[in-house]
Amino acid sequence: MRVLGIETSCDETGVAIYDGELGLMAHSLYSQAHIHAEYGGVVPEIASRDHVRKLIPLLDECLERAGSRRDEIDGVAYTAGPGLIGALLVGASAGRAIAQALNVPAIAVHHMEGHLLAPLLEPEPPVFPFVALLVSGGHTMLVEVSKIGIYRVLGETRDDAAGEAFDKTAKLLGLGYPGGPVLARAAESGDPDKYAFPRPMTDRPGLEFSFSGLKTHTRNLWHKHSAEQNACADIAAGFQQAVVDTMVIKCRRAMQQTRCGQLIIAGGVGANLQLRETLAQAGRKHGWAVSYPRIEFCTDNGAMIAYAGYHRLLAGASEPAVISARPRWPLDELMSTA
Ligand code: KG4
Ligand code: ZN
Repeated sequence: MRVLGIETSCDETGVAIYDGELGLMAHSLYSQAHIHAEYGGVVPEIASRDHVRKLIPLLDECLERAGSRRDEIDGVAYTAGPGLIGALLVGASAGRAIAQALNVPAIAVHHMEGHLLAPLLEPEPPVFPFVALLVSGGHTMLVEVSKIGIYRVLGETRDDAAGEAFDKTAKLLGLGYPGGPVLARAAESGDPDKYAFPRPMTDRPGLEFSFSGLKTHTRNLWHKHSAEQNACADIAAGFQQAVVDTMVIKCRRAMQQTRCGQLIIAGGVGANLQLRETLAQAGRKHGWAVSYPRIEFCTDNGAMIAYAGYHRLLAGASEPAVISARPRWPLDELMSTA
């Protein structure tokens, strides 16, 4: 069974082809980040329009790379949410239209399930059950995964997501967008112990996160010390260390609570090398296996959507390829324009 996957939930256009026997045949990715960098964050309308421009050329490129004919596709999976509504609609309409044209099922995929299953695309996949630390621009959560489709959320963020905290802090420090990679680069030449940072919500039991206090703390430090030599790098390093330490503490608790032996890290912040290394060390120390996707499959991509869609299709999922319109629409339900 061969599935075409389409991802357009935010500022990456991703297309991939996953085959049950051959594995991931090809994936193509286009990032709009350079366009949004000018505005310091994602501009939803620009994102939607750029997906419209890039999706079909990317699709042709991916089919060619995979050496697959269109009529060899057995299903079309698209990200149906969560994400930016306009951006999602581009992938959803394209996905449904292609499925209709090929006369194959369309499969609506949950973006976070895509992230969560991404480590299974690696040569040595994690085994179920596992605990997933899902850390992206919009979400921060610990999830107990018994098997595909059986998820129990153990804890979430009460305010900012981890990636959002990286993005906002990078903006504050004048480092640009997207914040995660630029802040991590700045942190390389900084001293994480130069300034003190809290490890939020680690002094009480539970698996919830909160990053807004850390963000405010960082802003206050920056206003006080910005004129000092190397302040930007030192603050970036201290902030990153605080986020990483907080996550490691929560992961350790989740592993103890679930008595699980396997941890996975997924989502854009999972590309953070310090997080990957520190969690791998913690895993060696405490006896858990730690897996993560390759860096390019931590951030948004089509491969994870094709893969999640493949499993949903195997399980019999299919969305009617319908664009909503009303056959009955009483004229007197229309709103006045006055
Ligand atoms: O998963 P993703 O591509 O999109 C969402 O589903 O939100 O995650 C994007 C987030 C952004 O906030 C970005 O700053 C962060 O992941 N990110 C990183 C790194 N690379 C991307 N955060 C920390 N370190 C990184 N190396
Ligand atoms: Zn994502």
